[in-house]
Amino acid sequence: MRIDLTGKRALVLGASGGLGGAIARGLGEAGARVAVSSRSGDKLASQFPDAGTYPRIVADLATPGIGRTIAAQALDVLGGVDILVNNSGGPPPTTALGATEAQWRAQFDAMVMALVDLTGALVPGMRERGWGRIVTVASSGIVAPIPNLALSNALRSALLGWSKTLAGEVAGDGVTVNLVLPGRIATSRVEALDKANAQRSGRSLEEVAAAALATIPAGRYGAPEEFAAAAVFLASPQASYITGTTLRVDGGALRNV
Ligand SMILES: NC(=O)c1ccc[n+]([C@@H]2O[C@H](COP(=O)([O-])OP(=O)(O)OC[C@H]3O[C@@H](n4cnc5c(N)ncnc54)[C@H](OP(=O)(O)O)[C@@H]3O)[C@@H](O)[C@H]2O)c1
Repeated sequence: MRIDLTGKRALVLGASGGLGGAIARGLGEAGARVAVSSRSGDKLASQFPDAGTYPRIVADLATPGIGRTIAAQALDVLGGVDILVNNSGGPPPTTALGATEAQWRAQFDAMVMALVDLTGALVPGMRERGWGRIVTVASSGIVAPIPNLALSNALRSALLGWSKTLAGEVAGDGVTVNLVLPGRIATSRVEALDKANAQRSGRSLEEVAAAALATIPAGRYGAPEEFAAAAVFLASPQASYITGTTLRVDGGALRNV
């Protein structure tokens, strides 16, 4: 099986690094033209210097109403969007009672509302063409909530309910809607979380990483490219009958079926 996305147009959010960057690269390598978006034009330009294959859209998902604006820019630069990868920045670590109302609202806007709006603006074109792929990056925390990541656990569970509902609404039009759940994939976000954990618990970074590794049957953190491979597959023509599902990419870390 060879994944060929020649002629497909993709939009990837959170694409200047980490998981989004690896997904954008994977889609581009499979032949798609990929609009890459994040807050930093400089980071996007250094990661994706070929603006012909990877046009850049600089936008902050925390800006009210930004979902529609990004959608309009993507349609303008690509002429249509066949593959949408919903990926946001991660929220700060906090206990369930530790976040302020302002934090809950701001993170809801950036992590949920912006993606819902953006998707709503792009789905009609996909339905008209009878082909579309929506892949949303969530977290293993929606299956087994992760201590001290209450904002992530809660808001990504909202994305789960939304994604599954949408999948049922558009399946008959050739549009698939799925979530990919990272366990611990080695990115700057995971490094920052490990550092914060070490500081909080008074342990060394090595001790924190060793404790995390002990919970992963594969015995290592995943590579961004391993995560991207799952997302690219879900975005491919071959994944046409897979919708409304969640795909774990966690080296076996989630122990339940
Ligand atoms: N890595 C993992 O193992 C893992 C596990 C569970 C969940 N996740 C979640 O998956 C997502 C991606 O993870 P990652 O590890 O790739 O994170 P990352 O390395 O921190 O990358 C996040 C990306 O999102 C962009 N971004 C951040 N805030 C943004 C905003 N307000 N508006 C627009 N773009 C924004 C960043 O670029 P700019 O700075 O240029 O904006 C960057 O490209 C995160 O939400 C993370 O919480 C990751």
